[in-house]
Amino acid sequence: MLIKRISPGGKVAAMNIERFTIGLVSALVAVAVFAGISTAQSPPRAVVPASNLNQLMRGLFFVHANVVFSAQRKNPAEIKWTSEPSASTDPLTGVFGNWEAVENSALVLIDSADLLMTPGRKCSNGMDVPVGKADWAGFVNELREGGKAAYKAAQSKNMDNIIEASDVLNTSCSDCHNKYRPRAIENRCK
Ligand code: HEC
Repeated sequence: MLIKRISPGGKVAAMNIERFTIGLVSALVAVAVFAGISTAQSPPRAVVPASNLNQLMRGLFFVHANVVFSAQRKNPAEIKWTSEPSASTDPLTGVFGNWEAVENSALVLIDSADLLMTPGRKCSNGMDVPVGKADWAGFVNELREGGKAAYKAAQSKNMDNIIEASDVLNTSCSDCHNKYRPRAIENRCK
């Protein structure tokens, strides 16, 4: 920006204003770029988990693992829809039932393994879920692998494969429970 004045010192004044303006513009650009970078780099807002570990186990892992385990005894292809399949509370008897339900429950187990690594979750005794412990992460990964085995077995629609995969999945549950879910509640998650 040039402001022209008809005075002897006018030229100098105009140059100074021009320099000032360029300086100001670059400062604004720098601020904008910095703001952009810091927005892009700022981590997502931490979400406090709604459930404690026991609630998550009862509400999610128990339910979906049972869908997988049940396919050892009863062929999902032969399970009939309930009278109101769109309102079914059992994935196997609903509109998205049969082997598809087993596949979906296996996928839910795989993806939900991440929830066992969410920071900020408590166990029922008030202890933090020990997400920082290496063996905990190992057990979580075992669960993930159990889910993958179950998914593959469900895709094959073969009950013998489900029996084998259920063994892998069930072992992943009990390996972690043996260490982190002792009978005495006060000793859990330690
Ligand atoms: C990485 C460790 C870990 C894995 C893997 C895990 N659990 Fe758990 N589970 C726990 C802990 C610890 C508790 C106790 C939590 C508490 O008291 O807050 C628990 C509690 C439970 C409960 C509640 C029991 C009750 O009587 O209240 C159920 C049900 C359960 N788990 C099912 C499962 C199933 C099914 C699987 C496998 C598909 C599984 N869990 C895998 C750690 C694990």
